[in-house]
Amino acid sequence: MSEPLTVVVTGGNRGIGRAVAEFAAAQKHRVVILTRGVPDVDLEYVVGDLACVRTTRAAADALAAACPRVDVLVHNAAIWPSRLVRNEDGFEQAYFTNHLAPFLLNHLLEDRMRRVVQVSAGLYVKGSVDPERTPVGADFHAIRTYANTKLANLLMLPLFAERWQDSGVTIDAVHPGVIRTGLGDRSGLLGLLLKAVKFAWSSPEKGAGPVVRLLRQEGSGRYFHELREMPLEPVARDRDLARRLWNDAAKALDVT
Ligand SMILES: NC(=O)c1ccc[n+]([C@@H]2O[C@H](COP(=O)([O-])OP(=O)(O)OC[C@H]3O[C@@H](n4cnc5c(N)ncnc54)[C@H](OP(=O)(O)O)[C@@H]3O)[C@@H](O)[C@H]2O)c1
Repeated sequence: MSEPLTVVVTGGNRGIGRAVAEFAAAQKHRVVILTRGVPDVDLEYVVGDLACVRTTRAAADALAAACPRVDVLVHNAAIWPSRLVRNEDGFEQAYFTNHLAPFLLNHLLEDRMRRVVQVSAGLYVKGSVDPERTPVGADFHAIRTYANTKLANLLMLPLFAERWQDSGVTIDAVHPGVIRTGLGDRSGLLGLLLKAVKFAWSSPEKGAGPVVRLLRQEGSGRYFHELREMPLEPVARDRDLARRLWNDAAKALDVT
């Protein structure tokens, strides 16, 4: 039987992340969830907020203290914002939490990590990133911004795979499916409509499956649409844009 892994899941207190954490724990892995508050699930946890540079650095320190080795880091935490909010660093909140926070954690924890599984979203194909406007939300849109942030995050995939080629850290990304969670919940009439639509969507357990199966895989730089490996669409293969976003992020977050 293979050795149990230490698996860290961000946003592991609800939705897909919680189901991933529970499946991994059932497989006898050591699971540590990163959560903003005390979780209502019986799992080991570290409290941390991926809201801004300060709190994300603190979360990385807390994770490092709890886990000398991280076999798999699952970047799952994300938001779908309905209005423009800027964090204390001046970044549009979803751009930070969905894209810059995983970028920063990857840099801060890379020496102790072996593998990253990035929970992505098929909606990346609808995204577009303007390096001047998107980071600060100058092009904010209640639907498109989510797609833009998931695209920014996915553009980093080949660059991290290349960065870690020699050290052996691997990274894959996966779209979990269209899943009934609290993501993007709204108040008012639109919220009620969305709730009704979501009723037909798949369960968080179904969404966790494609993520959990990647915990032990060997490859790197791959994108999976649920269970199927797929080539990235051209919009996520723009190397000039990816390099520009990488350089901007590294400078803003003070990492090399
Ligand atoms: N649901 C879908 O149909 C779907 C489709 C494609 C991709 N995805 C992706 O799947 C992943 C999980 O989404 P979900 O649907 O399970 O959403 P969800 O139920 O809304 O869960 C999101 C998780 O992210 C955490 N989070 C948000 N902001 C955070 C912050 N600042 N610091 C730390 N944690 C934070 C939340 O923590 P709290 O519990 O503290 O709020 C929550 O645990 C996301 O990456 C999403 O983009 C979902």
